[in-house]
Amino acid sequence: MVISIANQKGGVGKTTTAINLAAAFALRKKKTLLIDLDPQANSTMSYLDISTVERSVYEVFVDPAVGFPEVIRASNQPNLWVAPSRIALAKLEARLVGELDSHFKLKDRLAAVLADYDAVVIDCPPALGLLTVNALVASTHLMIPIQSSYFALEGTDDLLETIEKVRARANPTLQILGVVITMHDKRTALARDIRAQIDKVFGKKVFRTVITKSVRLEESPAYKESIFKFAPDSSGATEYYRLCEEVMDRV
Ligand SMILES: Nc1ncnc2c1ncn2[C@@H]1O[C@H](COP(=O)(O)OP(=O)(O)O)[C@@H](O)[C@H]1O
Ligand SMILES: [Mg+2]
Repeated sequence: MVISIANQKGGVGKTTTAINLAAAFALRKKKTLLIDLDPQANSTMSYLDISTVERSVYEVFVDPAVGFPEVIRASNQPNLWVAPSRIALAKLEARLVGELDSHFKLKDRLAAVLADYDAVVIDCPPALGLLTVNALVASTHLMIPIQSSYFALEGTDDLLETIEKVRARANPTLQILGVVITMHDKRTALARDIRAQIDKVFGKKVFRTVITKSVRLEESPAYKESIFKFAPDSSGATEYYRLCEEVMDRV
């Protein structure tokens, strides 16, 4: 099970979903690898001290002498490992231009360690470029976080088009695992409206579990902890645990 968390819009809850879904898998005793593919390295910083990261996924992409075993680090949580990102990833596209296998790099490199993990979660950057395409090619499943906001569905056409292109050749078995609504505010009529709109477009693909707005979810990365350790009784902890259960039911 390799799950990409992707949406080319920034700030929709990709990283928050990736770090806490990965933590939920780990809590359920699944050996879990969280791969950070965003040059901003927010997932990495949620579990590691970035100043100690010497080699990252960037090297795995560009240096044949460096593989995942050389960059993967244990987090402070049992069963959870992190393949860190660095800002260098931002120059990957330029670096790989012209390489025939540029879309398959991640899949190829990941193959060597896949058997070591029960679950792999990939946090994608806010773009539909080479990094996200590599993630989709390497994945069995895709989860799309959609922020409960007025412009919620804007841009999803482009994302779906990219998924279809990846399915057409590179990864025909890629499945849309589901759409998760994030930063929802149950109290507002607008949020209910948006929910209805998302349901209309994605139907059964929408997870029943909705992630509500929670300050705790914003705070936990600063303490290098998942929501389950930082605020186990918070709504965020309950919701991300439920989301993980739904994921397990669907895969
Ligand atoms: N459910 C939530 N409630 C409150 N804040 C959230 C929630 N989910 C994410 N955030 C905050 O919103 C911002 C963007 O979320 P993030 O997960 O980084 O999105 P992305 O990775 O898509 O850019 C971050 O500051 C994050 O802490
Ligand atoms: Mg992010």
